[in-house]
Amino acid sequence: MRKLFIIGIGAGNPDFLTLQAIKALSGLDVVFLIDKGREKAALAKLRMEICARYIDNKAYRVVEAADPERDRSPACYETAVTAWHAKRAAIYERMIREELADGQQGAFLVWGDPCLYDSTLRIVDRVAAMSTVSFDVEVIPGITSIQALAAGHGIPLNRIGEPVLITTGRRLAETPARDAGDVVVMLDGDCAFRQVEDRNVDIFWGAYLGTADEILISGPLHQRADEIEAVRREARQKHGWIMDTYLLRKATVS
Ligand SMILES: C[S@@+](CC[C@H](N)C(=O)[O-])C[C@H]1O[C@@H](n2cnc3c(N)ncnc32)[C@H](O)[C@@H]1O
Repeated sequence: MRKLFIIGIGAGNPDFLTLQAIKALSGLDVVFLIDKGREKAALAKLRMEICARYIDNKAYRVVEAADPERDRSPACYETAVTAWHAKRAAIYERMIREELADGQQGAFLVWGDPCLYDSTLRIVDRVAAMSTVSFDVEVIPGITSIQALAAGHGIPLNRIGEPVLITTGRRLAETPARDAGDVVVMLDGDCAFRQVEDRNVDIFWGAYLGTADEILISGPLHQRADEIEAVRREARQKHGWIMDTYLLRKATVS
């Protein structure tokens, strides 16, 4: 039987790797990599450093495939994502069937945690459902960007007994004000915090969390919004890519 690990490698700092992840890495024969283009080259580099350091079998192979084209301005977001997942599933299926021999161990290394805003598990499920290649799957959790954000700012993610909503920049505008007590926003290419009109909200913002380039800014949203937007623009220009996450928190509970 083939064994496929989906390993969360943490969201930026190689020291985020758990002992469980290191143990799984040590026995790998094949690492599957999806090339996501120039912006993500820095992330691919970190993955390769992790492999070189922790995989015991120095004859391990890296099998790389290009990420399929994705419609970035579709008429229907869900349909476009489903079509993109189908293309990815075909690529993953071929990689697992052709590149991982019976009895070998392979892995997809997932940024942060595989269970948070990542499609790898859904795609691997699709591959399993094709029944063209059989394999066992084991998921290894990782430190998410949300944990790195809270730790970076030295704050608890939730207030006592209160819920936390995790959403995307795209969906922030749809979040009813009554639910907007504590909201973590990810995948925001557009500074969606600008749409928040409530002046009684604090922001805890972080970019490149866990890396040597980490940037943290916090304070009242209406006072910090311009600064964050400017810092974000500049950093993105400098590095060629940016990943940022933030927590919006009602400054006082009514
Ligand atoms: C596709 S999701 C992947 C999330 C990842 N699985 C995790 O556990 O954090 C990508 C989003 O995660 C957030 N993110 C990931 N790594 C980050 C980092 N090092 N610093 C800031 N935000 C990060 C950003 O909001 C980015 O748009």
